[in-house]
Amino acid sequence: MAASIVKRVSRVKKLNVSHISARYKLLTGSRHFSTSKQWNNALVLGVYENESTDSIDFTGTARKFDEKADGKISQLLLTVKKPLKCGKTRTLHAVDPEFSSVLVTCIGKRGEGYDELETVDKGRESIRAAVAKAVLQLRELGENEIEVDSCGDTEASAEGCHLALFSYDDLKAEKSRKPAVRISCATRYSQDKNSMEKEWRKGAILAEGQNLSRRLMEMPANLLTPTKFAEIIKEQLADKCEVLVRDKDWAESMKMGSFLSVARGSVEPPVFLEIEYKGRQSDSPLALVGKGVTFDTGGISIKPSQGMDAMRGDMGGAACVAGSLLSVSKLQLPVHVKAFIPLCENMPSGSATKPGDVVTAMNGKTIQVDNTDAEGRLILADALCYSEQFNPSLILDMATLTGAIDVALGAGAAGVFTNSENMWNKLQKASVRSGDRVWRMPLFNHYTKKITECQLADLNNIGGSRSGGACTAAAFLKEFVNNKNWLHLDIAGVMSNSGDVAYLGKGMSGRPTRTVIEFINLMSKETKN
Ligand code: BES
Ligand code: ZN
Ligand code: ZN
Repeated sequence: MAASIVKRVSRVKKLNVSHISARYKLLTGSRHFSTSKQWNNALVLGVYENESTDSIDFTGTARKFDEKADGKISQLLLTVKKPLKCGKTRTLHAVDPEFSSVLVTCIGKRGEGYDELETVDKGRESIRAAVAKAVLQLRELGENEIEVDSCGDTEASAEGCHLALFSYDDLKAEKSRKPAVRISCATRYSQDKNSMEKEWRKGAILAEGQNLSRRLMEMPANLLTPTKFAEIIKEQLADKCEVLVRDKDWAESMKMGSFLSVARGSVEPPVFLEIEYKGRQSDSPLALVGKGVTFDTGGISIKPSQGMDAMRGDMGGAACVAGSLLSVSKLQLPVHVKAFIPLCENMPSGSATKPGDVVTAMNGKTIQVDNTDAEGRLILADALCYSEQFNPSLILDMATLTGAIDVALGAGAAGVFTNSENMWNKLQKASVRSGDRVWRMPLFNHYTKKITECQLADLNNIGGSRSGGACTAAAFLKEFVNNKNWLHLDIAGVMSNSGDVAYLGKGMSGRPTRTVIEFINLMSKETKN
């Protein structure tokens, strides 16, 4: 433990954000731990929903703990007439000398699985929510060492705990921060402890990837500039991936006129990140592309000031790419991934792009920029063109691209636009497992027409009317892709969580990082990647 504390402190120093360096913390997941701290032991146990008032339907692990406590847990639970319902908890004290608190959490009906209408695995989703609630309640009670029931799905249980305990309070005074909590899997009664530990670790790593995305998205834009984003990515990924940090001159030499037209309004220099993870030899990597607008004011087509602070999260696509890469590399998945992240600010200034300006993208297409607030598609156009140079087996881009996708789907699912039925099926399968859902949207020519009808150039960066805004944005991106396996994820609607997902606190969500990791996992099983 002491060694890892030293390591964390040295990482903080390297970042050179002097005014906050003492408070600033890079790493994802749980808090710093003090070696002198007194640890309390607490236990989370799962029970299934059960109508009976004279028996408790424990999980396998919970039953063993009840036996260990001479049946006290079931006795106490049965003293209350009303059986526990899904999502509800009971906290017991002094039932087992080993634990100061035992929290029983209801994980729904036994045997719940895939729900077709909901397109989600309800069993796994209930476990995530139930253990999340449990560990947060125990943290409130001052418990700081918690053993958690695998609840029959160790990976989901680990995800729920690790996602729930995330908080971004690095910039607050020590006393206002959430206390450190150590969590582990209750493996002692397991037939196969090793495989349970492995599953737990996988779930923790999946959550860690999403927590990195959340942290990056939450960071204020004065601290997370394109340059800082690149520094953090190097810190987080350089030991497992090759990270190339390209500058403005490089982008100019690549003729990325569309990307640079967005960056030109800001004093912060743009950065283009190129990251490679080689978990196997292949000459057709899987390409990830992420929108990295570290702050979107709208530029000259400026946004209203109300709620503009949320635009610090407009690098959510970039963050989810980084979070996915962190997990993929930690899990050592046998896959070859290349990631492309254009980073810049979208600011109004004397040097900013003006409505009606015409810019030229890397593939030679000219674009009339009628609205400088439709900047995401401009930076992605060049990044998508560039990614095509590496013969990718598929291209998956993520972007907080349009307010229109939020109007269409809200926080229920990320909108997916893809030219491949096969890719769609795989992504949806991944999302059923992760619980972080996707919904397919159209790539009709109908929408392409809206952006090719342009007075001065080959393409207009807006569709003319507000109708189908997410679809016209996707149609615009399509003009820069030739790959037959392309997926565009519009993640603006799922950017932040305001209570929709029970196991994510309020704030930037890091969605759909775990779905993408799971998708890459599925793809790693195919020979081509
Ligand atoms: N970054 C925004 C989209 C956005 C909205 C992200 C809400 C997260 C939450 C994007 O750059 C934008 O401003 N899009 C415009 C496009 C329009 C001008 C065609 C929009 O959606 O209003
Ligand atoms: Zn914008
Ligand atoms: Zn934007």
